[in-house]
Amino acid sequence: MNDFEPRGEYLLVACQAGAEDVVAARMAQALPGSTRGAWRRGVVTFRLPPGVDPSPADLDRVRDSLVVARTLFRCYGQIRWEDDAGRLTALRERLPAARFDAVHLYPRDLRALAAADVVADMPRLATAAGLAAAFPEATLGIARPGDLVLDCLSDGDDRWWIGWHRAQAPSTCWPGGLHPRPLPGDKVSRAWLKLDEAIESFGVEFSAGQHACELGASPGGACQRLLESGLEVVGIDPALVDPVVAAIPGFTQWRMRARDVPLRDLRGFEWVVADMNIDPTSTLEAIGRVVTAPGSRAGGIIATLKIPDWSRAAGLDAWLGQFRCWGFTPRARQLSTGGREVCVVALRTGPRRNRPGGQAAAQGSEGVRRARSARRRPDR
Ligand SMILES: C[S@@+](CC[C@H](N)C(=O)[O-])C[C@H]1O[C@@H](n2cnc3c(N)ncnc32)[C@H](O)[C@@H]1O
Repeated sequence: MNDFEPRGEYLLVACQAGAEDVVAARMAQALPGSTRGAWRRGVVTFRLPPGVDPSPADLDRVRDSLVVARTLFRCYGQIRWEDDAGRLTALRERLPAARFDAVHLYPRDLRALAAADVVADMPRLATAAGLAAAFPEATLGIARPGDLVLDCLSDGDDRWWIGWHRAQAPSTCWPGGLHPRPLPGDKVSRAWLKLDEAIESFGVEFSAGQHACELGASPGGACQRLLESGLEVVGIDPALVDPVVAAIPGFTQWRMRARDVPLRDLRGFEWVVADMNIDPTSTLEAIGRVVTAPGSRAGGIIATLKIPDWSRAAGLDAWLGQFRCWGFTPRARQLSTGGREVCVVALRTGPRRNRPGGQAAAQGSEGVRRARSARRRPDR
């Protein structure tokens, strides 16, 4: 492992275009005393609080608590030059003795680019920009856990934001936090890819033969991914699931809305997956019916919370609180293959706290109440 860790006074967070205010609001809680610096669509920088020198593990915690951060790195600022050679000289002047295990070069704003295409094209672009020659010891592309990574975030033709991070979790090994796999041609929807990214980035482990239900299953990409992991799957959706998925052994569709499924039919699922194009509070109510159904065996939840407007992300902590009330520990991330939404993966770690009539019931409904009031909160 390369132990050289140059410092930088700034943090740079890359996010989906439009989520910059969410990053800033959550950073104020994650790292009190940090101040917002330069920002543009898809990028926000923060000056570290005076005297604070966070470790890579601290930075992992900050990035995870931001939820909408694709990547976060210790930043030196921008280097500008009109040609590649000049830019590399400037880079070397900033990092005189630095050796890196991996180099990540990625654009600030993905626009219509697919995450996997950016990652696939990266070695060619990095070589063309002279990075392969400048850092011959480094891997151009996906890093290994423990690698010291040079981040070059390109912001137009003549400008890079530069810095470094220590790779650890899967998404920190991917250039720009971008999921590196394309959507295979035989999958019926992009939801296959989203679930694939969620499984990999959160380290979800299924056991063959487990039962899953998906609330909002049509056309069926996510069910297809679950079936490929050996699960028995019930897809719940009034809209029809693609015949390719419907024909896979182990799949059943219940053609109805989630709230119309009788409670007694909901108790046999170990996994609850939800991807409905409805408000997050309604999604939570539908998941709550499954995980609190009498005799429920639910041990894991993979939920997509659609955020129609980023200002609604103010409700995120209340929504995550609802998972805790059910006895689950939630982790959340805005996936690089997802839209304006947040993926929550939650595993059961404690007893349910919202049994009817008890103090726990009050806590459970409090979570929904808080989520509702967050929904009414005016835009910042
Ligand atoms: C984004 S699509 C789901 C994509 C799907 N997960 C896949 O893998 O292809 C949203 C789906 O939610 C369904 N939906 C919306 N409200 C629902 C509800 N109350 N109960 C069940 N499904 C619902 C819609 O019919 C729609 O098919």
